Amino acid sequence: MRIILLGAPGAGKGTQAQVIMNKFGIPQISTGDMLRAAIKAGTPLGLEAKKVMDAGQLVSDDIIIGLVKERVAQEDCTDGFLLDGFPRTIPQADAMKDAGISVDYVVEIDVPDEEIVKRMSGRRVHPGSGRTYHVVYNPPKVEGKDDVTGDDLVIRDDDQEDTVRKRLGVYHDQTKPLIDFYTAEAAASATQYLKFDGTESVDQVSEKVLAALS
Ligand code: AP5
Repeated sequence: MRIILLGAPGAGKGTQAQVIMNKFGIPQISTGDMLRAAIKAGTPLGLEAKKVMDAGQLVSDDIIIGLVKERVAQEDCTDGFLLDGFPRTIPQADAMKDAGISVDYVVEIDVPDEEIVKRMSGRRVHPGSGRTYHVVYNPPKVEGKDDVTGDDLVIRDDDQEDTVRKRLGVYHDQTKPLIDFYTAEAAASATQYLKFDGTESVDQVSEKVLAALS
C-alpha cells in the first residue's frame, strides 16, 4: 500500500500518519522529520535546511527528491510506504512519476488557514519519533511528556505565528496545485483520491481515513 498524505502545514498529516502506520504496518516517510534529523546531526544538508525551514520556505526540489528516492528504495518499503510532506511541488510529483513510483491512495486533509494558525500554537512534538500532540485537542497522558518514551516534548522552531503564515502562503502557491495534479492522475489511473474534513476531531478523522483505506 503506497499512500501520499496531502494538506496544509498543521492539517494533521503527521497525526494521521501515526494511525495509518500502526494499522497497516507501513513506514512513514516524513521529509520534515528527515530534515529535522539532519539539522540535529549538524550535517551540511541540515545546516542549509535549517535556514530555509526557519524562514518558512521549501528546501530545494533536487535535495528532497534525492532523499526520498533513496528512502523508498530501502527494504522496509517493499510492501508500501506513507509519504508525509512529499511531494510538495509539481516538480517533486513529476520526479516521482518519472522514477516509476506510483501510489494507490492520495489522502487530502482539508483545514482552513485560520484554524491552522490556532492549532500550531498548541502543538508539541517528540523529536525522536515525530509523534505529535496538542495541548488541548490531543494531549499527552502526562503533560509535556511523550506517551511512549516519557521524553520531554518540544515546540518546533517553525511554529511561530508569522512563520506559520509564511508556510501557509507557500502551501497555497506551490503545494495546492497538487490537488488538481492528483485528481487528474486518479481519473486516468488506479490511484484513488480521498478527501477528508480535517476540522473534525482527531479520532473522527482517523476513523474515516482508516475506513476508506480498509
Ligand atoms: P513538515 O515537517 O512536513 O511540516 P508541514 O507539512 O508544514 O506539516 P506539519 O508537520 O507542520 O503539520 P501536519 O500536517 O503534520 O500536522 P500535525 O499532525 O503535526 O515540513 C517542515 C519544513 O520542512 C517545511 O516548511 C519545508 O521547509 C521543509 N520540507 C519538508 N518537506 C519538504 C518537501 N517535500 N519539499 C521542500 N521542503 C520540505 O498537526 C498539527 C497540530 O494540530 C498538532 O498539535 C496536532 O495534535 C493537532 N491536530 C491534528 N489533527 C487535529 C484535529 N483533527 N483536530 C484538532 N487538532 C488536530
